[in-house]
Amino acid sequence: MSTIDQSGTFTLGDRTVKRLGYGAMQLAGPGVFGPPRDHDAALAVLREAVAAGVNHIDTSDFYGPHVTNRLIREALAPYPDDLVIVTKIGARRGEDGSWLPAFSPEALTQAVHDNLRNLGLEVLDVVNLRIMFDVHGPAEGSIEAPLTALAELQRQGLVRHIGLSNVTSTQIEEARRIAGIVCVQNQYNLVHRSDDALIDDLARDGIAYVPFFPLGGFSPLQSSALSDVARRLGATPMQVALAWLLRRAPNILLIPGTSSVAHLRENLATAECALPDDVLEELDGAASIGAA
Ligand SMILES: NC(=O)c1ccc[n+]([C@@H]2O[C@H](COP(=O)([O-])OP(=O)(O)OC[C@H]3O[C@@H](n4cnc5c(N)ncnc54)[C@H](OP(=O)(O)O)[C@@H]3O)[C@@H](O)[C@H]2O)c1
Repeated sequence: MSTIDQSGTFTLGDRTVKRLGYGAMQLAGPGVFGPPRDHDAALAVLREAVAAGVNHIDTSDFYGPHVTNRLIREALAPYPDDLVIVTKIGARRGEDGSWLPAFSPEALTQAVHDNLRNLGLEVLDVVNLRIMFDVHGPAEGSIEAPLTALAELQRQGLVRHIGLSNVTSTQIEEARRIAGIVCVQNQYNLVHRSDDALIDDLARDGIAYVPFFPLGGFSPLQSSALSDVARRLGATPMQVALAWLLRRAPNILLIPGTSSVAHLRENLATAECALPDDVLEELDGAASIGAA
């Protein structure tokens, strides 16, 4: 059994993935724009992830744009049979690197074809519709029109499964009346816990919850509570943050992002970091007062 198998598995669509996966966004250049500083280092991270047993990689064609998907293809194609690549559509990049909505049926169709071409696939395993009413967090509003367009692409056989990103529970309910939803990808971590109730609801329905910014995103989590616990457990603060997510709910799948092989190894070694119940309570308490 490889180390990351210890973190368990979950069903994503019709595939079983390990709960410790990898998020590829950090492989593009600064600001997730343009090529990586070190092309070969980016390829090495992807190859190391798969060699370590990762079979769930999160990406998008708007990382770069196009850069991350092409790196994934260069590093990993022909892909291992068990690898599930999850991508997202619904945004595009401005010439200045800004993140802009791209929700029309034409834009969504184009995005699916861009992902297929750049990843070198004939069908995309899972496509998340990334809602952009507010780029920084979920905001209410009907998603019927873009989801109907994505469901049509699924009917055409270009997309196996549909997920949602940056959504409210009302939007998830609306979406589930239109198409099957296999995963939800929202911001969530030890100190950003707006989705606590949603995670439990999705767990009851067997839908994966995939937190983005699991380590805090561009400014990784830092706190005395996290450091104290890490020291006591002989782990690192990042491993404790990830281990807490693994304990939080069985439907949570991790996609920590990194551009470094050393950080990747550290993150995947979280599988060996078991959090005792008293530590869990301590971290929950610290998070609830925003002190973690
Ligand atoms: N749906 C959405 O809207 C959305 C938004 C954002 C992200 N995502 C997805 O979620 C994935 C995860 O989010 P993320 O990559 O933005 O943030 P993250 O996983 O919370 O953190 C990434 C940051 O932590 C650093 N880091 C990683 N491992 C570390 C370690 N062991 N020690 C110290 N620093 C470490 C990385 O720097 P180094 O490169 O130096 O390691 C990077 O700065 C992304 O890769 C992407 O696939 C989705």
